Amino acid sequence: MTYASSRLAPVKPSASAWVSQAAKEAKARGEDVIDLGLGEPDFDTPDHIKQAAHEAALAGETKYPATGGTAKLKTAVSAKFATENNLKYQADEIIVSNGAKQVIFNALMATLEPGDEVILAAPYFGQYKDIVLILGGTPVSVACPAEEGFCLSTAQLEEAITDKSRWLFLNMPSNPAGALCSVDDLYALGAVLEKHPRILTLSDEIYEHILFDGRQFTSFAAACPNLKDRILTVNGVSKAYAMTGWRIGYGAGHRDLIAAMTKVQSQICSGACSIAQAAAAAALTGPQDEVRRFSAAFERRRNLVVERVASIPGLTLDPPEGAFYAYIGCEDLIGATTPDGDKIETDADVTGYLLKAAGIASVPGSAYDLSPFFRISTAASEEVLSNAMDRIAKAVKQLNFL
Ligand SMILES: Cc1ncc(COP(=O)(O)O)c(C=O)c1O
Repeated sequence: MTYASSRLAPVKPSASAWVSQAAKEAKARGEDVIDLGLGEPDFDTPDHIKQAAHEAALAGETKYPATGGTAKLKTAVSAKFATENNLKYQADEIIVSNGAKQVIFNALMATLEPGDEVILAAPYFGQYKDIVLILGGTPVSVACPAEEGFCLSTAQLEEAITDKSRWLFLNMPSNPAGALCSVDDLYALGAVLEKHPRILTLSDEIYEHILFDGRQFTSFAAACPNLKDRILTVNGVSKAYAMTGWRIGYGAGHRDLIAAMTKVQSQICSGACSIAQAAAAAALTGPQDEVRRFSAAFERRRNLVVERVASIPGLTLDPPEGAFYAYIGCEDLIGATTPDGDKIETDADVTGYLLKAAGIASVPGSAYDLSPFFRISTAASEEVLSNAMDRIAKAVKQLNFL
């Protein structure tokens, strides 16, 4: 008996979920494993946010919410865009969903025709590709090398565009590379997109608040106001407010696009949890000091990892500009032999070796469509990261480079 439909055939299990599972199993066997595979803050949700959820439950906010989001949260999202991003969105230009991931799913479900192409700047969050595939679209991956700051150039964009192009996905600062393209680069990409009226852009800004070295964030729709009707800005509370479990994300764009996405959402889930929406509203409207504290901690950890990688021959890392990952180049390890005599041929071999020899769970670059790299999450204490870097250094040193 086959249960899964052919629609699911091209979708591979998520690499980071696989890595986490492998780490859990190794831990269950009593092995000493440091799991740097996961993409979620290690902080707890601030208390005033939990308190708002508690109060919402006690106040009876326990019925089906409006499909596209509660009025209170939409007002908070609208105010957030106005004050932080200089963007004006009315309530009917905003949707609230179960995480940013569902916003993305709704958008593609609402707009993709079979065979439509979605341009992805690699390395990219692996689930973009899976969602495109599930919905019958065609992912078009464009390799954006480290030497170019992992940023998509106008020439690459022009080359990737065809009659079938429907979406361009941007993600800044990015998962996995922590890359943030300059505002000039955004203008330039916008100028190309202006010539192609069928193409929509999804700007995933979920790591907006985790930015280093005093950098300022510019939303793509604010940089390219002429394109605003064709931009879906995606954001959420998961990363900035340590709220991954609450599952609240939001998107803002043209009201017709939002209406189509809300139609999709009404069939899938009738909206996001009313109590989690009350918590998200408190996150957006309440004190922001915890957000700054989290970001400062991620910056210290980024500094630690950058400094330690620089002292390991064979590994490379340009300082990530934001988010909480390090996308470490491991080209020089390809071709080496492990102490057990296994040949390292791919970045998946590198992560397999690090798990076995050093007890470090990390995700291979192949999961983000740009190799040879591996991603570690810096959402762990400096002590844990320092220990992890010691282990990685030792394991790399034991490789044979004959
Ligand atoms: C780039 C990017 N977008 C979206 C998401 C999903 O966010 P959410 O938890 O709000 O669904 C993630 C989570 O890892 C991410 O890295």
